[in-house]
Amino acid sequence: MASAWRPCLILALLSGLAASGFPRIPSRPLGKRSLPEGVVNGIEVYSTKISCKVTSRFAHNVVTTRAVNRADTAKEVSFDVELPKTAFITNFTLTIDGVTYPGNVKEKEVAKKQYEKAVSQGKTAGLVKASGRKLEKFTVSVNVAAGSKVTFELTYEELLKRHKGKYEMFLKVQPKQLVKHFEIEADIYEPQGISSLDAEASFITNDLLGSALTKSFSGKKGRVSFKPSMDQQRSCPTCTDSLIKGDFIITYDVNRESPANVQIVNGYFVHFFAPQGLPVVPKSVVFVIDVSGSMHGRKMEQTKDALLKILEDMKQEDYLNFILFSGDVTTWKDNLVQATPENIEEARTFVKNIHDRGMTNINDALLRAISMLNKAREEHRVPERSTSIVIMLTDGDANVGESRPEKIQENVRNAIGGKFPLYNLGFGNNLNYNFLESMALENHGLARRIYEDSDANVQLQGFYEEVANPLLTGVEVEYPENAIQDLTQNAYHHFYDGSEIVVAGRLLDEDMNNFKADVKGHGATNDLTFTEEVDMKEMEKALKEQDYIFGNYIERLWAYLTIEQLLEKRKNAHGEEKENLTAQALDLSLKYHFVTPLTSMVVTKPEDNEDQTAIADKPGEGGHGLSGALHGLPDQLPASSDTLLLRGRGPPLHHPGPAERRRHLLQHRR
Ligand SMILES: *[C@@H]1O[C@H](CO)[C@@H](O)[C@H](O)[C@H]1NC(C)=O
Ligand SMILES: *[C@@H]1O[C@H](CO)[C@@H](O)[C@H](O)[C@H]1NC(C)=O
Repeated sequence: MASAWRPCLILALLSGLAASGFPRIPSRPLGKRSLPEGVVNGIEVYSTKISCKVTSRFAHNVVTTRAVNRADTAKEVSFDVELPKTAFITNFTLTIDGVTYPGNVKEKEVAKKQYEKAVSQGKTAGLVKASGRKLEKFTVSVNVAAGSKVTFELTYEELLKRHKGKYEMFLKVQPKQLVKHFEIEADIYEPQGISSLDAEASFITNDLLGSALTKSFSGKKGRVSFKPSMDQQRSCPTCTDSLIKGDFIITYDVNRESPANVQIVNGYFVHFFAPQGLPVVPKSVVFVIDVSGSMHGRKMEQTKDALLKILEDMKQEDYLNFILFSGDVTTWKDNLVQATPENIEEARTFVKNIHDRGMTNINDALLRAISMLNKAREEHRVPERSTSIVIMLTDGDANVGESRPEKIQENVRNAIGGKFPLYNLGFGNNLNYNFLESMALENHGLARRIYEDSDANVQLQGFYEEVANPLLTGVEVEYPENAIQDLTQNAYHHFYDGSEIVVAGRLLDEDMNNFKADVKGHGATNDLTFTEEVDMKEMEKALKEQDYIFGNYIERLWAYLTIEQLLEKRKNAHGEEKENLTAQALDLSLKYHFVTPLTSMVVTKPEDNEDQTAIADKPGEGGHGLSGALHGLPDQLPASSDTLLLRGRGPPLHHPGPAERRRHLLQHRR
């Protein structure tokens, strides 16, 4: 049997890792000196390319690695990519000796059945895992016959979100050996014009900075290229291992002469809104801090450290209070107090003296915070135009007082009554993150995980900085009635300085001449309306002339945003509503070829759709460590295992036939 295709394709979907496309080959000292450079254990990786195209914040990334087996026996080659958790994989193909095995996105249950069938036939197994803070790791291994070539190509897409005044593209690079042609190439096209662009890498040296890394921008286009030669990749002049290992981060921002920007292509529009230079709305913030026994030690010290830094940054117009909870609840002051220098000094002393103790009573602590904010407003103790925020930090599950999550959620929801946001920070892994997230989302806030690490204080502070400067509250984005449909979320409690509101939708009448959008919000001193008018024909013409535009990017951006918001809503939905949200999100995931928590990518043998060999899916939504997304695998998998690779050792598959016509499942328009 001449087949290079052995039944050994392994897809690991692990929940929580980081990535960028590199064959992982067991390293072994080079025995045979005669092999060309860059060959490790018989495998030469002769090319790795990460190509990123960003159009209006929508990033389309393709990671391609090519390798050849120079040994005289079959060898296993693995391909790892760590990609942002917020990205969706949209394609994966494997090409062995010129035969391409395409990836298809299927409903999770359908994919799982196929997968289980394959496993039961001893053919293969797949799995993926999560890695690090921001990333997920995609891993695939394939057995390559002597002399054969293999190409891996992974595509993922993501809407880059603006944080603290920047869009960030995060790439994890870690080739396991020297690569003859190694390249990262990012092309950015922003219709508003690029105002800054930077690229940095954790592994960068002066030599690389001078010659291998180039970055430039002018007008609407920006470009970053990183192309180290084989010699530049060496960790020392005589070394055979690579110094290219770590984070490669591209950041940029766009010009904001006007507070908003609208782009329209092929009947879909996207509206970016980020006004500059508005005065900050004063805020009333209650910090609800877990001081239960489990916070003891470093976590408590880091929390105090972060709170002291936050106090330094408080503005005099702000109001604040602290609520500490363990088994019982104590407050710093009975009511919110203004952030005067004297009060801040007193608060510092209070924070320094915080000690851990006892259990975890989340319910009473949150209800106390909420009633304090409500009361302050009713009694006009805080400025009329100020905004209220609750920030809770906890490292464990409720275990005193009301400790049923659904009941706490109900109490909190009723108490807040939609009036202000709740932000939940989950410190460490020993907690029910889904509960924290669900509660935050239904109260117009969000949840963040704070990773137990030496920089936890910086993470906490960083989160605070994001919400420290509300410029508008009660933001509503309005479009002329009967002009649009399928609108994404268009009402936001806050617009924070350094962020951006993005709304997308579909035009009902593609031939309309004028597109008008109003954004209304309450500012620090008065109510504001921002109106944006667009001449449609000119806009469409201008965008279409750009070769940077990849086809239907606004439509894909709309689909990405819609799916993301449907999945978020689904977390708090029940019964028929949940079924509806699930059905809509699934429908769009399949149509646009996104691997979401509802779908899986199935890599199929060209001549036989039923006989797929690998599966990739997206780790699920939070939870403890590895999530339930590791379907199709025995439950007792070690959750702590670093790389989970399962492998079938069955008989070889038959020789692949000619590539089948690719199925364009998702090309049709609605
Ligand atoms: C997936 O990638 C392959 C190889 O580049 C390409 O031919 C195919 O059209 C892509 N599929 C989709 C759905 O984009
Ligand atoms: C679910 O969808 C069906 C059909 O579109 C609709 O009739 C029904 O009202 C929806 N139910 C909910 C709870 O949204």
